[in-house]
Amino acid sequence: MRIGVLTGGGDCPGLNAVIRAVTKSLIGQCRAEVIGIEDGYAGLMEGRRRPLDWASVSGILFNGGTILGTSNRANPLASEETAERAVAQARAWGLDALVAIGGDGTMSIAHGLMQRGLATVGVPKTIDNDIEACERSFGFDTAVATVTEALERVQTTGQSHGRVMIVETMGRYAGWIALEAGMAGAADIILLPEIDYDPERVLEICREREKRQRYTVICIGEGAKPVGGTWTIERRVEASGGADPIRLGGVAHRLREWLEPRLDSEVRATVLGHVQRGGSPTPFDRVLATQYGNQAAQLVQQRRFGHMVTLTQGRMGSIEIERVAGRQRRVPLDHPLLNAARQIGVSLGD
Ligand code: F6P
Repeated sequence: MRIGVLTGGGDCPGLNAVIRAVTKSLIGQCRAEVIGIEDGYAGLMEGRRRPLDWASVSGILFNGGTILGTSNRANPLASEETAERAVAQARAWGLDALVAIGGDGTMSIAHGLMQRGLATVGVPKTIDNDIEACERSFGFDTAVATVTEALERVQTTGQSHGRVMIVETMGRYAGWIALEAGMAGAADIILLPEIDYDPERVLEICREREKRQRYTVICIGEGAKPVGGTWTIERRVEASGGADPIRLGGVAHRLREWLEPRLDSEVRATVLGHVQRGGSPTPFDRVLATQYGNQAAQLVQQRRFGHMVTLTQGRMGSIEIERVAGRQRRVPLDHPLLNAARQIGVSLGD
């Protein structure tokens, strides 16, 4: 058996752990030959690959990013000609299946290639933790750890100067990172995309805290918006396979500009950006990503093509890619953590 592996879309802590687990499981269990495709679908269309053997995936578990490189622009489904070229390349390499590790766009393309005759298995990845049928995505724990540390650090400046400190997290339209890191990092106010915030309420809390505690820490998800307002869009990018071309960013500055003239305290905003996506995965993410990779190898051996790895109620499973492509798992409004936050006096801006 000869299996191709690629990583598409943005990088994410744990990608190398998946590559390692897929490769070692396939070599160890069925003596498969594993081929790494470089820079996502770009490498598939341009015929760029390298062998993945036991030695080449050893020692990569701790490393962030992806040893294969990635791309979120290359789209074999851009035309019938490019789709045929990608499938023909896979045939020329003698691939029996392709394991595609990536986000929404990567999964949609995997599904499209499957329909054109290339057997595929998907491994979903994102720090945002917003994948349907995956209660925990690898990379999320690492991102939460990074944001938590940042919240702890800005607390020092907030306390010393008596300031309002705003920290903006990634997460797109889902508030998982902001919610969990906000709780772990002792934020006083947590603003999520799922709950439009009332700026007057945020102001009121900052004013109260100015009197009582001198400082306030606000953790805001990049997809948060004020009641009646819109998202803060930083830019639009080229995105393949129906992936979202909108890049959010800057909502912390927007809130700072609104709050500062209304308060006695100075207000500072920190946008963490890609710091949250970089670096070594946490032990939890290394284990989780290893499970995702191992499960992908099982799906290949069971010939469950067109399926994506899932995690529900702590168990690895799979689901047809087409059933989840394009769907997002956002924080439900009855999530127990929202309740707990409110009960310990953390404001959700509503
Ligand atoms: O989906 C992961 C993510 O890091 C989001 O949290 C963020 O909005 C986006 O990707 C940033 O994308 P890019 O790396 O293309 O700027």
